[in-house]
Amino acid sequence: MSTPHLQGKKGDYAPVVLMPGDPLRAKFIAETYLENSVCVNEIRGMFGYTGTFKQIPVSVQASGMGCPSMGIYSYELFQFFGVESIIRIGTAGGIAPEVHLRDVLLGQASCTNSNYQAQYQLPGIFAPSASFRLLKTADQIAGKLNIPVKVGNFLCSDMFYDESTPLEKWAKMNVLGIEMESAALYMNAARAGKEALCICTVSDCPLRKESTSPEERQTSFTKMMELALETAIAISGGKNG
Ligand code: HPA
Repeated sequence: MSTPHLQGKKGDYAPVVLMPGDPLRAKFIAETYLENSVCVNEIRGMFGYTGTFKQIPVSVQASGMGCPSMGIYSYELFQFFGVESIIRIGTAGGIAPEVHLRDVLLGQASCTNSNYQAQYQLPGIFAPSASFRLLKTADQIAGKLNIPVKVGNFLCSDMFYDESTPLEKWAKMNVLGIEMESAALYMNAARAGKEALCICTVSDCPLRKESTSPEERQTSFTKMMELALETAIAISGGKNG
């Protein structure tokens, strides 16, 4: 059974899926970190792979950019492919004063200007948040691996180029970083009764007009990957595992 956007059959994805935004990143992760990886999706060039890491099945599927794209892929993985946990691995702009280039951020919750939650017709404002089990596991593993992490709120924005330049206001609310996918992922996980976490490295600090070089991005990406993969296998026994 394929879906409009994923060509695989049920069982083609592992219970835990890592989701970078960039399809070529998904390919690189599969080729670099997974053993026996098989390509399970090529539709629209939005590559997905399944393989093993330390003998445990893990998939990697690109999400594309923004809530609409993450919304589609994470919905199909949770609802049609039996995926239990999704860990987004991406980049974020640093916002809070204590956040610096190359920091690794764990998104405990996701503020958003996206309209994604309108579909649920709730009589109030929903607070998209990470799975506590995934967050706690990632935080513990980061400690063991000696990878410093900052845990807190993200801003999931629909705009990369935003004329209203509201970042100072979010900084005042101690929001750590800005990215574009966490809210849709957390809402889809909540609606499906499944688990999600966003891990981001800080690629730029827009308020200080700082950005990382490609080499620096690669080093912080490697730390994040190590953390994401170890978290993926630690949680892959399931909610009661
Ligand atoms: N805005 C949105 N998403 C991002 C940014 C940003 O400044 N940096 C990295 N991802």
